[in-house]
Amino acid sequence: MRKKIVAGNWKMNLGFSQANALVHEVLHSQVVLPENTLVIFAPPFPYLQSVQAVLIGHPGFHIAAQNCHEQESGAYTGEVSASMLQSIGVGYVILGHSERRQYFGETNAQVARKARRALASGIRPICCCGETLEIRQAGRQQDQVHQQLEESLGEFTPDQAAVLVIAYEPVWAIGTGLNASAPQAQEMHAFIRQWLQSRFGREISEGVSILYGGSCKPSNAPELFACPDVDGGLIGGASLVAGDFLKIIRSF
Ligand code: 13P
Repeated sequence: MRKKIVAGNWKMNLGFSQANALVHEVLHSQVVLPENTLVIFAPPFPYLQSVQAVLIGHPGFHIAAQNCHEQESGAYTGEVSASMLQSIGVGYVILGHSERRQYFGETNAQVARKARRALASGIRPICCCGETLEIRQAGRQQDQVHQQLEESLGEFTPDQAAVLVIAYEPVWAIGTGLNASAPQAQEMHAFIRQWLQSRFGREISEGVSILYGGSCKPSNAPELFACPDVDGGLIGGASLVAGDFLKIIRSF
């Protein structure tokens, strides 16, 4: 059975003490995770280890990095490698977020290289895809997502695909307050699962968790998470407020 996941992508937000307070508040709420459910915090790099330390003894809670470099090591000032993340116990890494594509020119080919590097270090990539508003308005959202999947994940082996997490994040929904409707999300998630099946077979496609991201909040999470192919969420703004994040976790 595939995992249900709620992941909080903090992006470049929160000071150190706010970050710790947020994690403590979530943990001290005594939230009981249903079986087969994971909660992932994706703080900025400098906080990974301290958040990780707080999570010890809380099964089902994990950390993710928000990015990694495609090379193993070397003269890449300011960058962080997957093996460095692995060495401090990071289990997941978000790759190909639309903000990285938009502001840092990240391409599908780069996402593919980063994901392979992460997998080689034993880190599970959370690979993001999703169409822009223009593309949605033109009705070509499946074409764009198909191209992203093909170019970033198409060369994976079935074993590599089996440990992926995919996040569908329509760009027009990120930070806008305007979420995809449940039918829109379900349609795209089913499309992504179908692509996984065509590439890697039915068993793998049924095992990969596909998360929805883009203005996911307590008011819409229950409806979105009830869709058969939506296995949870990648949450931005609402993951910065403990009460909202908890409500989303409890939406399952
Ligand atoms: P918001 O939830 O703030 O729209 O952000 C979504 C996102 O980008 C998560 O990665």
